[in-house]
Amino acid sequence: MLPKIERYRGREQSYIKHLFLNKYLEAAAFKLLQSRSTSPTFNFVDAFAGPWRVSDDDKFSDSSFSQAVRTLEAVRRVLSAMGRTGLQVRYRFCERNPTSADKLRQFAANRREFDIQVFQGLFEDNIDAIGSSCRDGFTFTFIDPTGWDIESERVFAFLKDLNGEFLFNFMAEEVNRHAGWDVVEESFGRFLADPGWAEKFLDLPEDWSNETKILVLLKRKMKEVEIANYLPDMTILRPRENRTKMRLLLGTNNVLGAEVFRTIQRKVEREAMSARQRISIEESGQPFLFPSNQLAEFESERDGVGCRKYMDRAADLLHSIVVDRPGIQFRPLSGEVMEEVPVRTTDLNRIAMNFRRAGQLGFDLPPRKRTPAPTTPIWPA
Ligand SMILES: C[S@@+](CC[C@H](N)C(=O)[O-])C[C@H]1O[C@@H](n2cnc3c(N)ncnc32)[C@H](O)[C@@H]1O
Repeated sequence: MLPKIERYRGREQSYIKHLFLNKYLEAAAFKLLQSRSTSPTFNFVDAFAGPWRVSDDDKFSDSSFSQAVRTLEAVRRVLSAMGRTGLQVRYRFCERNPTSADKLRQFAANRREFDIQVFQGLFEDNIDAIGSSCRDGFTFTFIDPTGWDIESERVFAFLKDLNGEFLFNFMAEEVNRHAGWDVVEESFGRFLADPGWAEKFLDLPEDWSNETKILVLLKRKMKEVEIANYLPDMTILRPRENRTKMRLLLGTNNVLGAEVFRTIQRKVEREAMSARQRISIEESGQPFLFPSNQLAEFESERDGVGCRKYMDRAADLLHSIVVDRPGIQFRPLSGEVMEEVPVRTTDLNRIAMNFRRAGQLGFDLPPRKRTPAPTTPIWPA
Protein backbone atom coordinates (compact mmCIF):
# COMPACT_ATOMS: atom_id res chain seq x y z
CA MET A 1 0.00 0.00 0.00
CA LEU A 2 1.83 3.09 -1.20
CA PRO A 3 1.90 6.46 0.58
CA LYS A 4 0.01 9.42 -0.89
CA ILE A 5 2.05 12.55 -1.59
CA GLU A 6 -0.86 14.89 -0.68
CA ARG A 7 -0.27 13.92 2.97
CA TYR A 8 3.33 15.18 2.88
CA ARG A 9 3.15 18.84 1.93
CA GLY A 10 6.39 20.57 2.94
CA ARG A 11 8.06 17.28 3.91
CA GLU A 12 8.12 15.48 0.59
CA GLN A 13 11.44 13.87 1.58
CA SER A 14 9.48 11.69 4.05
CA TYR A 15 7.17 10.66 1.24
CA ILE A 16 10.17 9.41 -0.77
CA LYS A 17 11.53 7.62 2.30
CA HIS A 18 8.18 5.88 2.83
CA LEU A 19 7.82 5.04 -0.84
CA PHE A 20 11.21 3.37 -0.77
CA LEU A 21 10.51 1.51 2.47
CA ASN A 22 7.20 0.12 1.22
CA LYS A 23 8.49 -0.96 -2.16
CA TYR A 24 11.47 -2.66 -0.58
CA LEU A 25 9.33 -4.34 2.10
CA GLU A 26 6.95 -5.61 -0.52
CA ALA A 27 9.78 -7.11 -2.60
CA ALA A 28 11.53 -8.62 0.44
CA ALA A 29 8.30 -10.14 1.80
CA PHE A 30 7.28 -11.64 -1.54
CA LYS A 31 10.71 -13.17 -1.88
CA LEU A 32 10.67 -14.71 1.58
CA LEU A 33 7.03 -15.70 1.77
CA GLN A 34 7.18 -17.41 -1.61
CA SER A 35 10.17 -19.47 -0.52
CA ARG A 36 9.95 -23.20 0.00
CA SER A 37 10.06 -23.03 3.79
CA THR A 38 6.94 -24.68 5.27
CA SER A 39 5.91 -21.85 7.55
CA PRO A 40 7.83 -18.73 6.59
CA THR A 41 7.87 -15.90 9.09
CA PHE A 42 8.55 -12.24 8.31
CA ASN A 43 9.34 -9.95 11.25
CA PHE A 44 9.11 -6.20 10.74
CA VAL A 45 10.87 -4.20 13.45
CA ASP A 46 10.19 -0.45 13.38
CA ALA A 47 12.88 0.51 15.88
CA PHE A 48 12.20 4.30 15.93
CA ALA A 49 8.53 4.04 15.09
CA GLY A 50 6.99 7.41 15.95
CA PRO A 51 4.32 8.51 15.11
CA TRP A 52 6.26 11.60 14.20
CA ARG A 53 4.84 14.74 12.56
CA VAL A 54 1.99 12.86 10.92
CA SER A 55 -0.82 14.69 9.14
CA ASP A 56 -3.25 11.80 9.60
CA ASP A 57 -3.67 11.48 13.37
CA ASP A 58 -6.57 9.15 12.91
CA LYS A 59 -5.27 6.30 10.82
CA PHE A 60 -1.57 7.22 10.75
CA SER A 61 -1.58 6.62 7.00
CA ASP A 62 1.57 8.78 6.66
CA SER A 63 3.59 6.83 9.23
CA SER A 64 6.04 4.00 8.55
CA PHE A 65 4.43 1.49 10.95
CA SER A 66 0.91 1.83 9.55
CA GLN A 67 2.13 1.63 5.95
CA ALA A 68 4.24 -1.43 6.75
CA VAL A 69 1.18 -3.22 8.14
CA ARG A 70 -0.85 -2.41 5.05
CA THR A 71 1.95 -3.39 2.66
CA LEU A 72 2.76 -6.68 4.36
CA GLU A 73 -0.88 -7.64 4.82
CA ALA A 74 -1.48 -6.98 1.12
CA VAL A 75 1.42 -9.34 0.30
CA ARG A 76 -0.02 -11.96 2.61
CA ARG A 77 -3.47 -11.67 1.02
CA VAL A 78 -2.08 -12.05 -2.50
CA LEU A 79 -0.08 -15.11 -1.53
CA SER A 80 -2.99 -16.67 0.40
CA ALA A 81 -5.17 -16.21 -2.69
CA MET A 82 -2.51 -18.15 -4.58
CA GLY A 83 -2.82 -20.99 -2.06
CA ARG A 84 0.27 -20.09 -0.03
CA THR A 85 -1.01 -20.49 3.54
CA GLY A 86 0.72 -20.64 6.91
CA LEU A 87 2.46 -17.30 6.49
CA GLN A 88 3.26 -15.45 9.64
CA VAL A 89 4.01 -11.72 9.86
CA ARG A 90 5.09 -10.17 13.17
CA TYR A 91 5.25 -6.44 13.88
CA ARG A 92 7.49 -5.08 16.61
CA PHE A 93 7.34 -1.31 17.17
CA CYS A 94 9.61 0.60 19.54
CA GLU A 95 9.31 4.24 20.56
CA ARG A 96 11.05 6.38 23.19
CA ASN A 97 8.37 9.03 23.61
CA PRO A 98 5.62 7.81 26.00
CA THR A 99 2.80 9.76 24.28
CA SER A 100 3.78 8.37 20.91
CA ALA A 101 4.09 4.86 22.39
CA ASP A 102 0.50 5.24 23.68
CA LYS A 103 -0.60 6.01 20.13
CA LEU A 104 1.18 2.88 18.93
CA ARG A 105 -0.64 0.84 21.58
CA GLN A 106 -3.94 2.34 20.48
CA PHE A 107 -3.10 1.51 16.88
CA ALA A 108 -2.34 -2.10 17.89
CA ALA A 109 -5.49 -2.37 20.02
CA ASN A 110 -7.59 -1.45 16.98
CA ARG A 111 -5.96 -4.23 14.96
CA ARG A 112 -6.04 -7.27 17.20
CA GLU A 113 -6.09 -9.58 14.20
CA PHE A 114 -2.39 -8.80 13.66
CA ASP A 115 0.58 -9.87 15.77
CA ILE A 116 1.72 -6.38 16.88
CA GLN A 117 3.81 -5.74 19.99
CA VAL A 118 4.77 -2.27 21.20
CA PHE A 119 7.94 -1.58 23.20
CA GLN A 120 8.28 1.69 25.05
CA GLY A 121 11.65 3.30 25.74
CA LEU A 122 14.96 3.47 23.93
CA PHE A 123 15.41 0.84 21.25
CA GLU A 124 18.87 0.17 22.68
CA ASP A 125 17.24 -0.78 26.02
CA ASN A 126 14.60 -3.01 24.41
CA ILE A 127 16.89 -5.01 22.18
CA ASP A 128 16.80 -8.24 24.19
CA ALA A 129 13.01 -8.26 24.49
CA ILE A 130 12.50 -7.44 20.81
CA GLY A 131 15.14 -9.96 19.75
CA SER A 132 13.55 -12.78 21.72
CA SER A 133 10.10 -11.93 20.36
CA CYS A 134 11.34 -12.57 16.82
CA ARG A 135 13.92 -15.29 17.22
CA ASP A 136 12.93 -17.29 14.16
CA GLY A 137 12.19 -16.15 10.62
CA PHE A 138 13.52 -13.28 8.54
CA THR A 139 13.74 -9.92 10.30
CA PHE A 140 13.63 -6.60 8.50
CA THR A 141 14.62 -3.74 10.81
CA PHE A 142 13.88 -0.10 10.01
CA ILE A 143 16.14 2.35 11.87
CA ASP A 144 14.84 5.85 11.42
CA PRO A 145 16.22 8.24 14.05
CA THR A 146 15.80 12.01 14.05
CA GLY A 147 19.56 12.65 14.22
CA TRP A 148 22.64 10.69 15.30
CA ASP A 149 21.78 10.10 18.95
CA ILE A 150 22.07 6.30 18.85
CA GLU A 151 24.18 3.83 20.74
CA SER A 152 25.20 1.93 17.64
CA GLU A 153 27.27 -0.72 19.38
CA ARG A 154 24.10 -2.20 20.90
CA VAL A 155 22.08 -1.73 17.73
CA PHE A 156 24.77 -3.49 15.70
CA ALA A 157 24.77 -6.43 18.14
CA PHE A 158 21.01 -6.77 17.58
CA LEU A 159 21.40 -6.69 13.79
CA LYS A 160 24.22 -9.22 13.85
CA ASP A 161 22.20 -11.67 15.92
CA LEU A 162 19.25 -11.83 13.57
CA ASN A 163 18.80 -13.36 10.18
CA GLY A 164 17.66 -10.49 8.02
CA GLU A 165 18.27 -7.07 6.55
CA PHE A 166 18.00 -3.50 7.73
CA LEU A 167 17.22 -0.08 6.30
CA PHE A 168 19.05 2.71 8.10
CA ASN A 169 18.04 6.31 7.60
CA PHE A 170 21.28 8.31 7.80
CA MET A 171 20.36 11.90 8.67
CA ALA A 172 22.90 13.51 6.37
CA GLU A 173 21.82 17.13 6.76
CA GLU A 174 22.01 17.11 10.57
CA VAL A 175 25.25 15.14 10.58
CA ASN A 176 26.79 17.50 8.05
CA ARG A 177 25.97 20.55 10.13
CA HIS A 178 27.47 19.22 13.36
CA ALA A 179 30.22 16.71 12.64
CA GLY A 180 33.13 19.17 12.85
CA TRP A 181 32.27 20.46 16.36
CA ASP A 182 34.20 19.36 19.43
CA VAL A 183 31.07 19.26 21.62
CA VAL A 184 29.63 16.40 19.59
CA GLU A 185 32.77 14.24 19.65
CA GLU A 186 31.35 11.91 22.29
CA SER A 187 27.91 11.51 20.73
CA PHE A 188 29.41 10.83 17.30
CA GLY A 189 31.63 8.26 19.01
CA ARG A 190 28.46 6.47 20.18
CA PHE A 191 26.88 6.81 16.74
CA LEU A 192 29.94 5.35 15.01
CA ALA A 193 30.58 2.78 17.76
CA ASP A 194 34.11 4.16 17.87
CA PRO A 195 35.33 6.63 20.52
CA GLY A 196 38.48 7.25 18.45
CA TRP A 197 36.58 8.27 15.30
CA ALA A 198 37.84 11.89 15.18
CA GLU A 199 41.35 10.91 14.14
CA LYS A 200 40.06 8.73 11.30
CA PHE A 201 37.76 11.55 10.25
CA LEU A 202 40.76 13.88 9.89
CA ASP A 203 42.56 11.30 7.73
CA LEU A 204 39.80 11.39 5.08
CA PRO A 205 40.13 13.70 2.06
CA GLU A 206 39.62 17.34 3.00
CA ASP A 207 37.36 18.08 0.07
CA TRP A 208 34.74 15.53 1.20
CA SER A 209 31.72 16.88 3.04
CA ASN A 210 31.35 16.10 6.76
CA GLU A 211 28.43 13.79 6.15
CA THR A 212 30.30 11.85 3.44
CA LYS A 213 33.16 11.26 5.86
CA ILE A 214 30.82 10.15 8.66
CA LEU A 215 28.94 7.85 6.28
CA VAL A 216 32.20 6.26 5.17
CA LEU A 217 33.22 5.67 8.81
CA LEU A 218 29.77 4.26 9.64
CA LYS A 219 29.85 1.82 6.73
CA ARG A 220 33.41 0.82 7.60
CA LYS A 221 32.32 -0.01 11.13
CA MET A 222 29.26 -1.92 9.93
CA LYS A 223 31.51 -4.08 7.77
CA GLU A 224 34.04 -4.52 10.55
CA VAL A 225 31.37 -5.85 12.95
CA GLU A 226 29.99 -8.02 10.14
CA ILE A 227 26.38 -6.93 10.09
CA ALA A 228 26.23 -6.71 6.29
CA ASN A 229 28.25 -7.64 3.23
CA TYR A 230 26.66 -4.97 1.06
CA LEU A 231 25.65 -1.45 2.07
CA PRO A 232 24.23 0.40 -0.93
CA ASP A 233 22.81 3.86 -0.22
CA MET A 234 20.55 6.35 -1.92
CA THR A 235 20.37 10.12 -1.41
CA ILE A 236 17.05 11.82 -0.70
CA LEU A 237 16.97 15.57 -1.35
CA ARG A 238 14.87 18.21 0.32
CA PRO A 239 12.84 18.87 -2.82
CA ARG A 240 12.13 22.52 -2.10
CA GLU A 241 15.80 23.38 -1.63
CA ASN A 242 17.45 20.64 -3.71
CA ARG A 243 19.74 19.84 -0.79
CA THR A 244 20.71 16.43 0.61
CA LYS A 245 18.41 15.66 3.53
CA MET A 246 19.02 11.98 4.21
CA ARG A 247 20.50 8.82 2.83
CA LEU A 248 18.79 5.47 2.96
CA LEU A 249 21.27 2.71 3.60
CA LEU A 250 20.43 -0.95 3.12
CA GLY A 251 22.35 -3.61 5.02
CA THR A 252 22.18 -7.01 3.37
CA ASN A 253 24.30 -10.14 3.07
CA ASN A 254 22.76 -11.01 -0.24
CA VAL A 255 23.67 -9.74 -3.72
CA LEU A 256 19.98 -9.99 -4.58
CA GLY A 257 19.26 -7.44 -1.82
CA ALA A 258 21.66 -4.97 -3.49
CA GLU A 259 20.02 -5.65 -6.87
CA VAL A 260 16.49 -5.10 -5.48
CA PHE A 261 17.74 -1.91 -3.78
CA ARG A 262 19.03 -0.42 -7.06
CA THR A 263 15.88 -1.48 -8.95
CA ILE A 264 13.63 0.22 -6.42
CA GLN A 265 15.92 3.24 -6.27
CA ARG A 266 15.42 3.67 -10.01
CA LYS A 267 11.63 3.75 -9.63
CA VAL A 268 11.61 5.91 -6.52
CA GLU A 269 14.10 8.47 -7.82
CA ARG A 270 11.86 9.09 -10.86
CA GLU A 271 9.01 9.81 -8.48
CA ALA A 272 11.30 12.11 -6.46
CA MET A 273 12.42 13.92 -9.61
CA SER A 274 8.78 14.38 -10.72
CA ALA A 275 7.85 15.71 -7.28
CA ARG A 276 10.75 18.21 -7.43
CA GLN A 277 9.74 19.32 -10.92
CA ARG A 278 6.10 19.79 -9.84
CA ILE A 279 7.19 21.84 -6.85
CA SER A 280 9.44 24.10 -8.90
CA ILE A 281 6.66 24.65 -11.46
CA GLU A 282 4.25 25.43 -8.62
CA GLU A 283 6.69 27.81 -6.91
CA SER A 284 7.74 29.64 -10.06
CA GLY A 285 4.12 30.05 -11.17
CA GLN A 286 5.40 29.55 -14.75
CA PRO A 287 4.11 26.83 -17.05
CA PHE A 288 6.98 24.63 -18.31
CA LEU A 289 7.42 23.45 -21.86
CA PHE A 290 7.51 19.76 -20.85
CA PRO A 291 5.32 17.82 -18.40
CA SER A 292 6.96 17.05 -15.03
CA ASN A 293 7.33 13.32 -15.75
CA GLN A 294 9.21 14.09 -18.95
CA LEU A 295 11.51 16.52 -17.15
CA ALA A 296 12.09 13.76 -14.59
CA GLU A 297 12.98 11.41 -17.42
CA PHE A 298 15.63 13.89 -18.70
CA GLU A 299 16.99 14.25 -15.18
CA SER A 300 17.21 10.51 -14.62
CA GLU A 301 19.10 10.08 -17.89
CA ARG A 302 21.62 12.58 -16.52
CA ASP A 303 21.77 11.61 -12.83
CA GLY A 304 19.70 8.46 -12.27
CA VAL A 305 20.47 4.78 -11.76
CA GLY A 306 22.26 3.42 -14.86
CA CYS A 307 22.93 6.89 -16.40
CA ARG A 308 26.04 7.44 -18.53
CA LYS A 309 28.28 8.70 -15.72
CA TYR A 310 27.34 5.76 -13.43
CA MET A 311 27.86 3.28 -16.27
CA ASP A 312 31.37 4.68 -16.78
CA ARG A 313 32.13 4.52 -13.05
CA ALA A 314 30.74 0.99 -12.81
CA ALA A 315 32.84 -0.13 -15.80
CA ASP A 316 36.05 1.29 -14.24
CA LEU A 317 35.30 -0.32 -10.88
CA LEU A 318 34.33 -3.69 -12.37
CA HIS A 319 37.50 -3.79 -14.43
CA SER A 320 39.76 -2.86 -11.52
CA ILE A 321 38.20 -5.52 -9.25
CA VAL A 322 38.82 -8.19 -11.89
CA VAL A 323 42.43 -7.06 -12.30
CA ASP A 324 42.89 -7.24 -8.50
CA ARG A 325 41.11 -10.57 -8.12
CA PRO A 326 41.35 -12.53 -11.39
CA GLY A 327 38.73 -15.30 -11.64
CA ILE A 328 36.20 -13.61 -9.32
CA GLN A 329 32.70 -14.96 -9.99
CA PHE A 330 30.24 -12.65 -11.70
CA ARG A 331 27.71 -12.60 -8.85
CA PRO A 332 29.97 -11.34 -6.02
CA LEU A 333 31.61 -9.01 -8.55
CA SER A 334 28.19 -7.53 -9.38
CA GLY A 335 27.37 -7.17 -5.68
CA GLU A 336 30.52 -5.16 -5.03
CA VAL A 337 29.89 -2.83 -7.96
CA MET A 338 26.16 -2.35 -7.21
CA GLU A 339 26.99 -1.53 -3.62
CA GLU A 340 29.20 1.38 -4.72
CA VAL A 341 27.55 2.63 -7.91
CA PRO A 342 23.83 3.04 -8.74
CA VAL A 343 23.54 0.45 -11.51
CA ARG A 344 21.55 -2.80 -11.83
CA THR A 345 22.54 -6.33 -12.86
CA THR A 346 21.23 -5.72 -16.35
CA ASP A 347 23.63 -2.74 -16.67
CA LEU A 348 26.52 -4.90 -15.43
CA ASN A 349 25.68 -7.61 -17.95
CA ARG A 350 26.02 -5.01 -20.68
CA ILE A 351 29.30 -3.70 -19.29
CA ALA A 352 30.78 -7.20 -18.97
CA MET A 353 29.73 -8.12 -22.52
CA ASN A 354 31.24 -4.90 -23.91
CA PHE A 355 34.57 -5.66 -22.20
CA ARG A 356 34.45 -9.21 -23.60
CA ARG A 357 33.78 -7.98 -27.13
CA ALA A 358 36.63 -5.46 -26.84
CA GLY A 359 38.96 -8.22 -25.60
CA GLN A 360 39.53 -6.45 -22.27
CA LEU A 361 37.99 -9.19 -20.10
CA GLY A 362 37.65 -12.89 -20.71
CA PHE A 363 34.95 -15.35 -19.61
CA ASP A 364 32.93 -18.28 -20.97
CA LEU A 365 29.25 -17.90 -21.67
CA PRO A 366 26.85 -20.65 -20.64
CA PRO A 367 25.40 -22.51 -23.68
CA ARG A 368 22.85 -20.42 -25.60
CA LYS A 369 23.25 -17.48 -23.17
CA ARG A 370 24.24 -13.93 -23.92
CA THR A 371 25.25 -12.95 -20.39
CA PRO A 372 27.58 -14.50 -17.79
CA ALA A 373 26.06 -16.87 -15.19
CA PRO A 374 26.31 -15.87 -11.51
CA THR A 375 29.12 -18.40 -11.00
CA THR A 376 31.08 -17.54 -14.18
CA PRO A 377 34.71 -16.65 -13.34
CA ILE A 378 35.81 -13.38 -14.95
CA TRP A 379 39.43 -12.90 -16.04
CA PRO A 380 41.49 -9.93 -17.13
CA ALA A 381 42.64 -10.08 -20.77
C1 LIG B 1 11.98 10.22 12.52
S1 LIG B 1 10.92 9.68 13.77
C2 LIG B 1 10.31 8.17 13.16
C3 LIG B 1 9.37 8.29 12.03
C4 LIG B 1 8.77 6.99 11.54
N1 LIG B 1 9.77 5.92 11.42
C5 LIG B 1 8.10 7.22 10.20
O1 LIG B 1 8.79 7.11 9.19
O2 LIG B 1 6.89 7.47 10.18
C6 LIG B 1 11.99 9.10 15.03
C7 LIG B 1 11.26 8.61 16.26
O3 LIG B 1 12.20 7.90 17.08
C8 LIG B 1 11.98 8.23 18.45
N2 LIG B 1 13.27 7.96 19.10
C9 LIG B 1 14.37 8.75 19.17
N3 LIG B 1 15.39 8.09 19.75
C10 LIG B 1 14.94 6.83 20.03
C11 LIG B 1 15.55 5.67 20.58
N4 LIG B 1 16.81 5.65 20.96
N5 LIG B 1 14.79 4.56 20.67
C12 LIG B 1 13.49 4.54 20.26
N6 LIG B 1 12.87 5.63 19.73
C13 LIG B 1 13.59 6.76 19.61
C14 LIG B 1 11.52 9.67 18.43
O4 LIG B 1 10.73 9.95 19.57
C15 LIG B 1 10.69 9.71 17.13
O5 LIG B 1 9.34 9.43 17.38
